[in-house]
Amino acid sequence: MGVTLMRPIDELVKVDAGMVSRALFADEEIFRAEIDRIFSKAWLFVGHESLVPNPDDYFVSRMGTDSVILTRDRQGKIQVLLNSCAHRGMALCRYDHGNNRTFTCPYHGWSFSTDGNLVERPGELVGVPGFATHYMSELDKKQWGLKSVAQIYNYKGAIWATWDKDAAPFLDYIGDMTYYLDSALDHRDGREGESEVIGGVQKWRIPCNWKFAPENFIGDKHHDISHRSVDLVGIGPSGGKGRRDFTENRVCVAFPNLGHGSIGRLPHTEEMAYSSQFQNHPVVEQYYREVYEARVKRLGDSKRVSPHAVGTIFPNMSFHAHQPRTLAVFHPISATEMEMWRMYLIDKDAPEEVKEAARHYYLRYSGPGGLTESDDMENWSGATEACKGAASQQLYFNYQMGIGHSKPATGLRDAVYNDYSEENARGFYRRWAQFMNGLSWDELNPREVPIEAAL
Ligand code: FES
Ligand SMILES: [Fe+2]
Repeated sequence: MGVTLMRPIDELVKVDAGMVSRALFADEEIFRAEIDRIFSKAWLFVGHESLVPNPDDYFVSRMGTDSVILTRDRQGKIQVLLNSCAHRGMALCRYDHGNNRTFTCPYHGWSFSTDGNLVERPGELVGVPGFATHYMSELDKKQWGLKSVAQIYNYKGAIWATWDKDAAPFLDYIGDMTYYLDSALDHRDGREGESEVIGGVQKWRIPCNWKFAPENFIGDKHHDISHRSVDLVGIGPSGGKGRRDFTENRVCVAFPNLGHGSIGRLPHTEEMAYSSQFQNHPVVEQYYREVYEARVKRLGDSKRVSPHAVGTIFPNMSFHAHQPRTLAVFHPISATEMEMWRMYLIDKDAPEEVKEAARHYYLRYSGPGGLTESDDMENWSGATEACKGAASQQLYFNYQMGIGHSKPATGLRDAVYNDYSEENARGFYRRWAQFMNGLSWDELNPREVPIEAAL
């Protein structure tokens, strides 16, 4: 029942030549194929465990174009279920988040449970009005539970799921990209995880193709001109300096066979000296200095993650590890519209004053009302609009920066780097083509991944 495309994938994406067809950014048929071939198969970011801290908490998320329920069962385990009643499709959860012992459908009243003491599988059907009188007790409840994802992985508090039971294990899927993702998820003092989402989740729609955002954050280090006004205003976390206070020594690191990439520092053992960030907030400044010193002490000479990375995990999740520290996800709505979500992270045990200062900074900087996001949104929606025309659809975008100039990134498996390069984006579209060509998981995630392709 898959979508048949008019043009072959290899004509749409010519990675080795650094060319990607504009059809990828406006064609509804390609969009439908992406939902079918990428979003029903890949590992997708669903949320953060701190959004459901207590048993029976739920948070309504999305996987591709499907609404899903991220919930914590009564045994404390995270579950991800399709937010659509097995009877006639009604949404079970109609609020963004809450706490539910059972999920009861507002249409005919079927109810479903995740309680391991009551059911064998999460989302099983436990209650049907009229079961004895209308159905004569003949309905097979075990067959009519909520659809559950095939695999879930909690990586340092970030929850990932896939509909594909054959998908490669999450840690193989993400590879050494964890090195950069850690920089967003870990506590600033070097402890693993120990972060939480503060201030809720920002959600808004942008009239652009969903791929513009992950492509931007995967390694586009060369669009500074877009943010000139922000740089002039000086909206760094300190309140007194520009936004790029802490971006020196960052390079474009690509995982060309996995489709992930980052703008970050290479693995190192020498910590860069602490530079003050919050001169206008003595308490906040003292906190960040202390956690910096704790990190250096805790991690010693081990491969130490630098908390200044930006990156993308294929297909639609990005993170910012230096302030503002966020996880972002780009939900596909149509070929020319996406819904962007941002979750803001902070050390779980940080003092309230630190959390409050960060929250204010996040709002000034990111999100639909933030000073930088609006620059990027303008570019993505303008480019999407320009891709709609018949003449435009015949053309390709250019991703030729740095072809043949990547160097092996020592200390990371299957990674290459360069100061400036579009290798990261080429890797993203190489991965896109692999999924769209319907490769099996043995081909998508072979045990030994060669990096020669990008060198
Ligand atoms: S649609 Fe849910 S009970 Fe009928
Ligand atoms: Fe930007």
